[in-house]
Amino acid sequence: MNIKETDKQYIMGTYGRVDLAIDHGQGSTLYDTDGKKYIDFGSGIAVNTFGASDPLWIDAVVSQLNKIQHTSNYYYTKPCTDLAKLLCTKTKMSKVFFSNSGAEANECAIKAARKYGTDKNPDKNVIITLKNSFHGRTITTLSATGQDVFHTNFTPFTEGFVYVEANNINELTAAMNDNICGIMFELIQGEGGVLPMTKSFVEAAAALAKKYDALLIIDEVQTGNGRCGTLYAHQQFDITPDIFTTAKGLGGGLPIGATVFSEKLKDILPPGSHGSTFGGNPIAAAGAVNILSRIDDNLLAEVKDKSKIIISTLESLDGVENISGMGLMLGIKTTKPAKDIMLYCLKNGLLVLTAKDKVRLLPPLNITKEELKEGLEILKDAIKNA
Ligand SMILES: Cc1ncc(COP(=O)(O)O)c(C=O)c1O
Repeated sequence: MNIKETDKQYIMGTYGRVDLAIDHGQGSTLYDTDGKKYIDFGSGIAVNTFGASDPLWIDAVVSQLNKIQHTSNYYYTKPCTDLAKLLCTKTKMSKVFFSNSGAEANECAIKAARKYGTDKNPDKNVIITLKNSFHGRTITTLSATGQDVFHTNFTPFTEGFVYVEANNINELTAAMNDNICGIMFELIQGEGGVLPMTKSFVEAAAALAKKYDALLIIDEVQTGNGRCGTLYAHQQFDITPDIFTTAKGLGGGLPIGATVFSEKLKDILPPGSHGSTFGGNPIAAAGAVNILSRIDDNLLAEVKDKSKIIISTLESLDGVENISGMGLMLGIKTTKPAKDIMLYCLKNGLLVLTAKDKVRLLPPLNITKEELKEGLEILKDAIKNA
């Protein structure tokens, strides 16, 4: 039995896999099990920050692997503390809780917001999130996710979430009251179709959070770690989050999640209030230290430059209606169905993603100009001929 048949027989069919078994890769060039080459414009959904098999990241991971793989959170380890310090100093935040995924990073933020609220008033436990958002697949992060399509069949849900329309300041203002303990949203709704928040909405949300003593929680699971042209996307707005969450690209390919807290929340979760067996695992953390320390001004300038190349190559093509997003997180609304374009690209050696009705591009941040050009030629052909 081949890989695909075995997978279908033994793995729960939760994923709509496409007809591709990836074997290996280097940078933004991947190969399937038959040796066919693909340019990667997806990074495993914004995870492989420096592409496949990045040698510096491998060195960091392997050298930790040769020391010890896991200790438990009863003990201190250097990779975990180095990563926390790096995250805080680079973002002017104060404390980190480590977990293993975006959903878990958001779960921790939700618990912290409820702790913050209920310490003041037992009814201050409601969190506002946005319609069309995506915050994860656990029951509580699904509750936070403002999309009915994810809710069918999984009730009863965690209570205490209110959803408002993205970019609608009036709706958000009307939803605020003294029982709101947090406002949580993505700066670009990734799974929701690469839909950016406006500056005025983000700044209004920050002002309302302050007015009602609620926490401003920014979900940077997909937008973070250099993806949007700054280390974290919130650095492009005139706001200071109380909490931001991240995962995906932080680990460069190993599972890690981080909930990052501002100074006022530095003691919000006391001993015993939260935990994770694998959270802050030394191997994942050693890899993440390597990733985070390499997202510097030069790389960020490159991200912006490559973003401009993609936009200028595609924006005036027949068949492209608009392009949304920031940096190397771009959504292309095409006249042809996004799925047809994705499948045409796949056949012709390019991996792209979709999000709702958009073709979604999330290439590795260090994709070479040659790989970018090669991929864009395939994408142009797909937009015309799919
Ligand atoms: C904005 C956002 N939040 C949370 C998640 C959930 O992350 P994970 O799949 O690592 O749990 C995702 C995943 O796509 C995401 O895009």
